[in-house]
Amino acid sequence: MLIGLRAKNFGILGDVTVGAVDDVLVDRGPEAGLTPVTALIGRNSTGKSTVLDALSFLADCLRDGVSSASSAGRRGGFTELRTFGACGPMELEVALDAPDRSCVLDYTLRLACDGHGRPAVESELVRRLVTDGEGKRSFQDVLRLENGQGRIMVSGSSAPDASALLPAGVADLRKPGLSAYGTLTGQPQLRALLGTMTRWYFYRFDAEAARTAHAGGGHRHVSPTGDNLANVVQYLEEESPHELQVLLQRISARMPGLGLVTTSRSPDGKVLLRFNGTDGAHPVYLDRLSDGTLKLFTYLLLMEDPTPRPLVCLEEPESGLYHDMVEPLAAEFRRHATGTRDGEEGAQVLFTTHHPYLLDSLRPEEVWLLERGPDGLASARRAGDDPVVAGMTAQGIGLAALWYGSYLDRD
Ligand SMILES: Nc1ncnc2c1ncn2[C@@H]1O[C@H](COP(=O)(O)OP(=O)(O)OP(=O)(O)O)[C@@H](O)[C@H]1O
Ligand SMILES: [Mg+2]
Repeated sequence: MLIGLRAKNFGILGDVTVGAVDDVLVDRGPEAGLTPVTALIGRNSTGKSTVLDALSFLADCLRDGVSSASSAGRRGGFTELRTFGACGPMELEVALDAPDRSCVLDYTLRLACDGHGRPAVESELVRRLVTDGEGKRSFQDVLRLENGQGRIMVSGSSAPDASALLPAGVADLRKPGLSAYGTLTGQPQLRALLGTMTRWYFYRFDAEAARTAHAGGGHRHVSPTGDNLANVVQYLEEESPHELQVLLQRISARMPGLGLVTTSRSPDGKVLLRFNGTDGAHPVYLDRLSDGTLKLFTYLLLMEDPTPRPLVCLEEPESGLYHDMVEPLAAEFRRHATGTRDGEEGAQVLFTTHHPYLLDSLRPEEVWLLERGPDGLASARRAGDDPVVAGMTAQGIGLAALWYGSYLDRD
């Protein structure tokens, strides 16, 4: 699970922490961090989407290198991405719970650029959080690199001293060293870190892409634009046809007015998704589905993923949905995140929202508020850390009412 993110000199995030990293992790423990379901709220242009993009950028750096990551999508290159007016390095730090819950790891990636604006890795640090016999927490180095040179913890070591570290080095500073060291079988913690971050999922709904028929073939996961829904269903049908039918029935029950969702095959053998309607007489297929229905179907399919991503990040999932669909969607997020069905493992959901119903489905410790200061840069704080908010929600007042009453935002 993602426990926290700190971003320095990343867009509007001059120095912003969401969740717990570094000293906060040592002082207050992982409990001060992000929750299985977390919402980011705040006025327009306060940095909510930038928080999600900072995570996405980090994953892209590890997968594709820092240059490609800087210019991917709408990022516009490193100098556009770094906070305007800042000349120091860009720094991204995340704290994660290892998938087997065996340890908490904290990873810092610092990037600088040359005179031509070309980014390179300046330093990297992986630390694990250890607790001594008296319950005192501290960090222990696992990997430390400065300009590609440094030390790595001896495989399997738990000794807290520097003798447990071996020399380490990477030649290419366009890619984080973790991309290489995280593939070594003898480094389970680095493998867990790399494996988790590169499986984070960032979904950007694109109705046209979702309607476009793909070539056939099964896909295990929904793509970031949702343009492979039929392929995902085909994969599930090939893997486990009975479970797919149960899954489609569950989805159908949450999409009123659409009737049962079933599958059929095109003459050339591709799986087609058939939305049968309430009378069953006028079925429609993906290409004729409305934008909102398509979006809802995609979310529900995502939340049913039998091998879920460790973290699913969503931008304003409520947009385009009828108001009475928002609460059921929030319930699906929670079920997905806490894994309450059939003892399955939960997977974290992090989303931005402007919707009061989504907010009302959350506890104050699950909500982070982004604000913009007089310097034009963002700051973040957890709604539950505000004693007034905590007190009022304890009395049963919903978060949406507090939001509208300006108890969450400071004007
Ligand atoms: N390199 C940069 N340095 C400083 N600020 C930047 C930089 N790049 C973009 N910004 C500012 O960051 C803001 C974008 O923030 P973001 O998109 O994260 O807002 P948001 O909270 O998601 O807003 P909305 O609710 O409208 O979606 C814009 O106001 C933009 O001007
Ligand atoms: Mg936004």
